Amino acid sequence: MTLAERDAAVIWHPYTQMKNAGLPLAITKGEGALLFDEAGNAYIDAVSSWWVNLHGHSHPYIAQKIAEQLQQLEHVIFAGFTHQPAVELAEGLLKVLPENQKRIFYSDNGSTAVEVALKMALQYWHNQGQEKSKIIAFRESYHGDTFGAMSVSSRSAFTQPFNQYLFDVLFIDVPVPGQEEKCLQQVTAYAQRTDVAAFIFEPLVLGTAGMVMYAPEVLDKTLSICRENQIFTIADEVMTGFGRTGKNFATDYLSENKPDIFCLSKGLTGGTMALGVTSCSQQIYDAFLSEDKTKTFFHGHSYTANPIACTAGVASLELLLQSATQANIARIRAQHTAFREKMQMHTACKVIRQTGTILALEFETGTTSYFNNFRDILYNVALENKVLLRPLGNIIYILPPYCITPGQLEEVYAVIMKMADLLI
Ligand SMILES: Cc1ncc(COP(=O)(O)O)c(C=O)c1O
Repeated sequence: MTLAERDAAVIWHPYTQMKNAGLPLAITKGEGALLFDEAGNAYIDAVSSWWVNLHGHSHPYIAQKIAEQLQQLEHVIFAGFTHQPAVELAEGLLKVLPENQKRIFYSDNGSTAVEVALKMALQYWHNQGQEKSKIIAFRESYHGDTFGAMSVSSRSAFTQPFNQYLFDVLFIDVPVPGQEEKCLQQVTAYAQRTDVAAFIFEPLVLGTAGMVMYAPEVLDKTLSICRENQIFTIADEVMTGFGRTGKNFATDYLSENKPDIFCLSKGLTGGTMALGVTSCSQQIYDAFLSEDKTKTFFHGHSYTANPIACTAGVASLELLLQSATQANIARIRAQHTAFREKMQMHTACKVIRQTGTILALEFETGTTSYFNNFRDILYNVALENKVLLRPLGNIIYILPPYCITPGQLEEVYAVIMKMADLLI
C-alpha cells in the first residue's frame, strides 16, 4: 500500500470534503521551494504550504538550530519557568515590531493568537470596571477556526453550522478602492457607542476572502477614529507578517498609527513549527497588574512557548533580516509587477492585484465564490503542471517562499497563463 492509500484509511483532512477528495499527495521530502512526492515528482510550493513557509522547506539553518535545541531542552512548563529560546524570540520580535509593543504572549497558532488578543482587549476593560464588550471587524475577514476567532470572522459557509453560538460583532465593509468613505462612515458611527472594546483587522490584505486588498491610508484613518474613541486596535498579521507585503509587517505601511495588539503565527517559525504570538502595548499589560488575583490573565496552553518552536522562530527571524532575504523579497515583488502588467491585458483576467510578494488574479467566470467549480479545475491544472496553487474559488494567488528562484516563479506564471488560456 502507498502512503496515500494508508492515509485514506485512517485520516480526516482539514477543509476537505472527504467523500470525493481523492487520494492525497504524499510528500516525502521538501527542499527550497520544492516538495517531492513518493513517486519522486517535484512540485513548486507557490502558496508556501498555507502561507507559512518563508525560507524554503527543511531549511538547513533552522534544522541545525532545532537539532541543537532538542539535545538541550525539548519542553518545559511556561508558568513560573522560562528558557533561552522564548526570551530570545521575544526580544527579537520586539525589535522588529513597532516601538509601542512591549510584551510577548505565546500560544499555539494563528487562531489562538487571535483568541488571546480578543481576551486581552475584553479583559482590559473588565479589569478597569468598564463593560465594553463589542468588537468591530471587517465583514469578509477570516481570523481562524476557534469560536472567538470565528465570531470576528465573516459569517459564511465555514461558520454557518455554528452561527448561533458566535458572539455578536459590529461588522464594517472592507475599504477596497471606491468603498473607503463607506467604511469610514460605518466606523465613525460605531465609534460613538460606549461599549466598543476593540477593532480587529487583517491589514492591507484579507487572505481567505480572496486576497482582497486595500490601501494603508484608509486603514490609518480607521485606526485614528478608533484611537480617538478609546477603541483598541488589533492587527491580525498572521498571514501578512514577516515580509509578505514587502515590509516586515503590513502595518509598517501606516504613517500615523500603530496598533495596540498584534497577532502573529504562520511565518513566525519560518513555517517549521506551530507557534502563536500576541504582542501588546504597555497600557494593556499594566491593566493586568494588581494585588487582586482575579485581574490575572488566565490563559495558557500546555505547549506555550515550546522551546523547539521558539528556536525555529529565532532562526527564521535571523534569516528574514539578512540582506539576501530582503533582496529576494524585492526581487519577487518586481517580478510579480512585471507579470501583473502583462496579465491584466488577458481577456480571462477580471482583475489582478498585488501587495508586495502577494499576487492575486480573479478569473472572469461569472461568479466569485469559494465554491466556484472552476476552483477544482484550476487546482488540478496546477498540480498536473507540478505547481501547488490553492485557488480561492475563481481567484488564484501566489504567495511564495522567498527562496523561490526567478525560473521557478516564471514556471508558476506560465501555469497561470495556461489556466487563463483555457478560459478563452
Ligand atoms: C489572517 C489570519 N488569521 C488567523 C488565521 C488562523 O491561523 P491558524 O490556521 O494558524 O489557526 C489565519 C489562517 O489562515 C489567517 O489567515
